[in-house]
Amino acid sequence: AQQCDQPVETARFDCHPEPFASSEKCLARYCCWKPIFSSTNHSTNSLEVNVPSCYYPRDFPTYKIITNESTVFGQRLTIVKQQSTYMPNEILNLTVDLLYETAQRFRLRIYDSTKKRFEVPLPVPVVGTKSNVTDYEVSLNQAPFAILVKRKSTGVTLFDSSTSPLIYADQFIKFSSYLSSPFLYGLGEHRQPLLINVTNEWRKLTFWTRDEYPVQNVNLYGVHPFHINVEMKSNTLINFHGHFFLNSNAMDVDLQPLPAISYTTIGGIIDLYLFTGPTAQDVIQQYWDVIGKPAMPPYWSLGFHLCRWGYNNIDNLRTVIQRMHDAQFPYDVQWTDIDAMRSNLDFTYDPTNFNGLPDLVRSLQSEGKHYVNIIDPGISPTQPPGTYPPYDEGLKRAIFMTKFNSTELIIGQVSPGLTVFPDFTNASTVEWWTNIAAAFHDIIPFDGIWNDKNEPLNGVDGSIDGCTNNSLDKPPFVPNVLDNSLSAKTLCPSAQHASSSHYNLHSMYGYFEAKATNLALKAIRHKRPFVLSRSTFPGSGQYAAHWTGDNRATFEDMYFSIPAILSFNMFGIPNVGVDVCGFFHDTTEELCTRWMQLGAFYPFMRNHNAAGDKDQDPAAFSWTSQQIMKQALLMRYSLSPFWYTLHYQATTLSKTLVQPLHFEFPNDNKTLGIDQQFLIGRAILVSPNLVSQTTTVHAYIPQDVWYEFSSGVKVKVIGVFTDLDAPLEKINVHVRGGFIIPMQIPGSNLMIGRGNPFTLLVAQSASENATGNLFWDDGDTIDSIEAKAYNYLEFSLVLNTLTIDTIVANYKDSPMRLELVRVLGVSKVVTSVTVNGKDHKDFFYNVFDQILIIYGLDMDMLVQPSQTI
Ligand code: GLC
Repeated sequence: AQQCDQPVETARFDCHPEPFASSEKCLARYCCWKPIFSSTNHSTNSLEVNVPSCYYPRDFPTYKIITNESTVFGQRLTIVKQQSTYMPNEILNLTVDLLYETAQRFRLRIYDSTKKRFEVPLPVPVVGTKSNVTDYEVSLNQAPFAILVKRKSTGVTLFDSSTSPLIYADQFIKFSSYLSSPFLYGLGEHRQPLLINVTNEWRKLTFWTRDEYPVQNVNLYGVHPFHINVEMKSNTLINFHGHFFLNSNAMDVDLQPLPAISYTTIGGIIDLYLFTGPTAQDVIQQYWDVIGKPAMPPYWSLGFHLCRWGYNNIDNLRTVIQRMHDAQFPYDVQWTDIDAMRSNLDFTYDPTNFNGLPDLVRSLQSEGKHYVNIIDPGISPTQPPGTYPPYDEGLKRAIFMTKFNSTELIIGQVSPGLTVFPDFTNASTVEWWTNIAAAFHDIIPFDGIWNDKNEPLNGVDGSIDGCTNNSLDKPPFVPNVLDNSLSAKTLCPSAQHASSSHYNLHSMYGYFEAKATNLALKAIRHKRPFVLSRSTFPGSGQYAAHWTGDNRATFEDMYFSIPAILSFNMFGIPNVGVDVCGFFHDTTEELCTRWMQLGAFYPFMRNHNAAGDKDQDPAAFSWTSQQIMKQALLMRYSLSPFWYTLHYQATTLSKTLVQPLHFEFPNDNKTLGIDQQFLIGRAILVSPNLVSQTTTVHAYIPQDVWYEFSSGVKVKVIGVFTDLDAPLEKINVHVRGGFIIPMQIPGSNLMIGRGNPFTLLVAQSASENATGNLFWDDGDTIDSIEAKAYNYLEFSLVLNTLTIDTIVANYKDSPMRLELVRVLGVSKVVTSVTVNGKDHKDFFYNVFDQILIIYGLDMDMLVQPSQTI
C-alpha cells in the first residue's frame, strides 16, 4: 500500500511537474493523487505554483546502499534500485562519493557506476585527501538511501535528502533536501527581490540561459545554481550555509514552505557542494574557492561608461562626446553598439555612417579615455567568399557549431541576417577569435569588448531548418523554461560542440565566449582585459564584468537593480551594473537623475539605451539635472581608490564589492532581506530614493556609528526605519564608524586623475578607532598582483594617532601625495596637530559637527615603514 499520509501539505514533493496532471497519469507513476486547493498566500507577482496534487508516497521505490567503503577522500558508496519507475532509462546502479574536501566544504557526487556521463567542464579544485577536521558531520540511511549533513557546533541540518526519493534517469535527475529556514539568497539569474522567502509560498525557478528582458519568474541570461540559506536558531546567533549544484543542464529548482528545496535537472550528474560558512561572506569565499575568484579590472573601467544603441552616425556620436566634454562631466569610456558596424557584421565598422571612427577612437585615447565595442557571437556566412575573413577563416579551421551527427553547420538568424555560431569550447576557436580580433584592433584600437547576445540568441527557433526529433531536442521532461521549449530563441539542443552537445553546454556558451575574449584581449593588448558579458555561468567573473540586460526606464526596474547587483556579487561576478536610466523606453529627467545618483555607486556604471529612445547621456538634460548628476559622478570618482582596493580584496581575498546589510548585521532581524539599500565593502551605506515624486526615503540605519558621507555629520537615529531627507538633489550615503576610506581628488577621467592628491576620510568608531587600506598600481598591467608590482598601505587610528604603514611600495611611476585628512566624530577639541612629530598648522576643527580637517599635508605616502599624524 502506498504511504500517502504526509503529515502536512508542505511535505508533498511533486511527482508530476509537467502540466496537465491527472489522477490517471499520477497513479500510473505509482504516486499519490489528492487534489487540493491551496490556501497559501501567493504574492501577485509570484509564479502560481500550488501544492502538488500528485506527490511521491513515502515508500516510493528508490535506492538502497549496498556497499560502503572508506577512501582517502572520504567515503564511496554503491547504491542500487531494484525496479525502474516512470522515467525512461533509469540508471539502477549508482556510485556515491562523499568528499570531505575542506573543513568547511563537503562535496557529494552521484554518478552512473558503469558508464561515463557528461560533467560540467569547469576547472574545479581536485582534492585527493579527506580533511580530518570538519565543521560538518555526515550520516547515512541505508534503505531508503539518504544522506544527512549537520553542522557540528549547533546540530542544524545543512542537507537532508530523506525528504523525497532520489530519481536518477538518463534525462531526469531529481533530489530534494530540507532547508534550514525558508530564507535564501541567490539562485540566479532571475528578477526577484534579494530575499527568497518561501514561508508561505511555493516557488519554481528555472535555469537555462535565455535572451529575455528581465521580468519575474522566467529564466534569464545567466545560470547560477548557488544559494545561501539563513540558519535560524533560537533567533540569536545566525549562521549561513550554501549549496552549489554544479550542473549545466536545463533545470528547475523548486522551493516549498516545509521548508525544502528540490533540484530537477535533465542531464549530467549530481555534483553538489555544501559550504558551511558560518558567515555569509565565508560561504561566498568557500564558493569562489571552487569556481574561481573574480578578475582584477583595469583601473579605467571603474569610471563612467557611456553607450547607446542608435547613435546611427558619427556626427551624433561626436555631438554627444563634445557636449559631455563641454559640460565637464567626469567620464572614461565611450562605447558603440551594432549600428556602428557595417551591415551588423562583427569586426567591421560602417565606413559611410561612421567614417572616421578609428581617428575618433584615437583622439579619445589621447585624452586618457577608452573605447569598447560590441561583438555578437553570430558570424555571417553569406558574404561574398574572400571578403569576410571571420567566416572564411573560421570555416577553414572548422570551429563553427554543427548539426547533430553531421559536419553541416547549424545556421540561425541574428542581426547580420543568417549566422553560424563559433564553438568557444574548442581551443582552435580561441586562436581564430584572437586573430580576427587582432586584425580588427589594427583598424580600431579598442580597449575592451562587449560580448552581447551570447545565451546564445537566435532569432529563429533552433535553426533555419528546425531541430530533430531525437531525445536531445525532444527530451522526456522539459523544465519550466520560457516558451516551454529548449530551442526557443536559441539553437537546437542537439547542435554539436567539439566536446559535447548544446543540450549540455548551452548555458555555458557565454562563459566560454567571455573566456576566449579575455584571452584574446590579453594577447592583443598585453594589458589587463575588460570584457562585459550578458550571459554568465559560475566562473564567468574570472573573465568578465556583467550587466543585467534589457531593463526598462521605470522606477521599478531601478529598484530591481539593487537585488541584481547584490546577487551577482555572491555569484562571483562582482563587477556588475545595469543600464543606468533604463534601456527600453524614453527615460524621464527625474528617473535619470535618480538613476545616475544610484548608478554612481554600482561597481560597474554604464548609461545605455535602445535604438529609437531619446538621448539620455547626462549632458542631454537641464542645467540643474546636470549639476546633480555631476555631483554624483564626482562622488564616484573621488572614491575610485576605495573601489580599486575593494577589487583587489575581491580578487585576492574573495570579498564581495557590495553586500546586503544582513551580511554585516546578521543578528539584527530588521536587516533580513533589505534590498533597497546596500553596503559598499563594509563601510559605505547607500540608500537611494527609488520612488517617483517623493522627497524622503524610508531607510534603515543599523545600530552602529554612522556619518553622512558629504557633511560628515553623525547620524542620530539608528536601529529603526526612519525617513531620511531625499530631495532630488540628494542621494543618502553614510560612512560607518571604524573605517578609513582612501579617496582622491577627481580628474576629468581616471587616467588624468590618477596623479592627483589623495585624501583620507577617517570615520571614528564609538571607541574612536578606525582602520583602512589602499591598493595602488599602474592600473592595467596584467600580473601586477602576482609580480608584486604595486603599493599597499594600511591606515589605523588609535588614541588620536593616525598611522600610515607602507607595507609594499613597489610601484613608483606615479607619485602618491596625501593632501588632506578628514576625521569624523572627534569629540574633544583639537588644539594642535603634528605630522611625523612636527607641528602642523593647517587644520580646522568644527566644534559643532565634531569634524577635524587637516589640510596642506603634501606628504609622500610611500615613505616606509610608517608615518604618523
Ligand atoms: C541587446 C542588448 C543591448 C543592445 C542591443 C543591440 O538587446 O542587450 O544592450 O543594445 O542588443 O545590440
